[in-house]
Amino acid sequence: MAQISIALIQFDKETQPRVQLDMLVVEDYAIAMGQGDIFPPVLLFEEDGKYWIGDGFHRCQAARKLGLAEITADVEPGGKRAAVLASCAANAVHGLRRTNKDKQRAVKRMLADPEWAQWSDTEVAKHCGVSHPFVGKQRAILKPLQDSRLVKRGDSTYLMNTGNIGEGLSEEALEAAARTDIRQDRRAVERLSAMPAEMQLPVLDLVAEGKRPDAAIKIVTTEYRDAKREERLAALGELKATAKDITLIWADCLEWMPDHQGEFDCLIADPPYNTGRMKWDMFESAKAFRLFSREWMAKAFSCLKEQYQAFIFCPTEWAADVEWYLRSIGQHPKSRIAWTYRSIPLGRVVTDRLARMHQTIFHCGNKALCFDESWDDRRFDVQSYEAPLTTSNDERVHQAQKPLDLIKWLVELGTQPEQNILDPFSGGATTGIACLDLRRQATLVEKDEDFFAIGQGRIAEYEQQLR
Ligand SMILES: C[S@@+](CC[C@H](N)C(=O)[O-])C[C@H]1O[C@@H](n2cnc3c(N)ncnc32)[C@H](O)[C@@H]1O
Repeated sequence: MAQISIALIQFDKETQPRVQLDMLVVEDYAIAMGQGDIFPPVLLFEEDGKYWIGDGFHRCQAARKLGLAEITADVEPGGKRAAVLASCAANAVHGLRRTNKDKQRAVKRMLADPEWAQWSDTEVAKHCGVSHPFVGKQRAILKPLQDSRLVKRGDSTYLMNTGNIGEGLSEEALEAAARTDIRQDRRAVERLSAMPAEMQLPVLDLVAEGKRPDAAIKIVTTEYRDAKREERLAALGELKATAKDITLIWADCLEWMPDHQGEFDCLIADPPYNTGRMKWDMFESAKAFRLFSREWMAKAFSCLKEQYQAFIFCPTEWAADVEWYLRSIGQHPKSRIAWTYRSIPLGRVVTDRLARMHQTIFHCGNKALCFDESWDDRRFDVQSYEAPLTTSNDERVHQAQKPLDLIKWLVELGTQPEQNILDPFSGGATTGIACLDLRRQATLVEKDEDFFAIGQGRIAEYEQQLR
């Protein structure tokens, strides 16, 4: 085992075993690393003083994101090729579970390589940790692509569609490709074949204008993604109208709340706490954070009706400060709920302190909580719910997402059906989902455009499932 400088590590996409890097996992890992947790060593391959990642792409990204200088690694000799081969086996038996697409990517990568493609299905299956028929199926899919080739006639090179080039290029694209330089670039042609048909010609137009194939693919992919996002937002806008009891507002709650005095029966607030870990959770100074906290609290409580309940989330290490802010605006907590959670990202080992397992939720209010007749666990101020992680049942869409069942418990404690709830810090819109389920009205406010869109999507999807 050795300490390797992050600066020497090659973050090459080809050694990244997954279809997509899961940024939420990177963030989970970065937070845990920042708290001093120890992760298993990553596997690196060294060649000419450079290190290629064979296993541990998410951990290396997290360390880089955190600004760590070094990472603990097992180092083996070999360069990028050895790392790519190792990455095809990465996470087969441990670490972040692979999706089916991740497995396909590993197998396809081996089968696309002239040397590794000679391995038998059984050998590839064993290396990639998949079944032997799974490899056979991928081999059959890849065959046409492997049959296609670039052929030279006189001075020109043509894309010879012997195997229908991955069955991916449209006829027009095929013709256009033969007229541009992309035909020299086998990898770019393969990438183009994998793109939706409507994106192929725009890429080829840009190549014909002199753009490099990679740059052209990037430009068109970005434009296409943005257009799709616009379409999705427009579609969601229509769907939103049908989720009639839930309103999600894209605004700064500090500006929105003063116009909504005395409208709500209950407040559920899960605000930023200046941890400095996420961009929405950073303040210039402790003073700026204190002013923000007191401002949102004062404004949020003035949105409540005369008879109200309020639940305020707070990391336990900030509980003393937050209780002080609450008291300073005349709110004296009636209960301090301890929400205990058990889900800890894989590989976390805490050595210098006890692993934190709970968070505080302050309860303030001036009327009876809505208990049913039974005297059961729901009446106690210690509650246990699993925090959403990428591996848990709640679909995870936000770094600070709270468990749906926990929010439902608060909604039921604080309101009767048809009453309304304000959540000024919507995040992944968990409060909206809970309220849809429990027939409460809710108004959620979110400042960040992306979280707003994610929340809209989650509400619209959930609302459709309920129909
Ligand atoms: C702790 S998260 C909420 C997570 C949420 N409870 C869930 O389960 O997904 C806080 C959210 O408040 C948003 N936020 C921060 N400041 C805000 C403001 N002034 N107005 C509205 N939203 C804000 C952040 O962008 C972030 O998404």
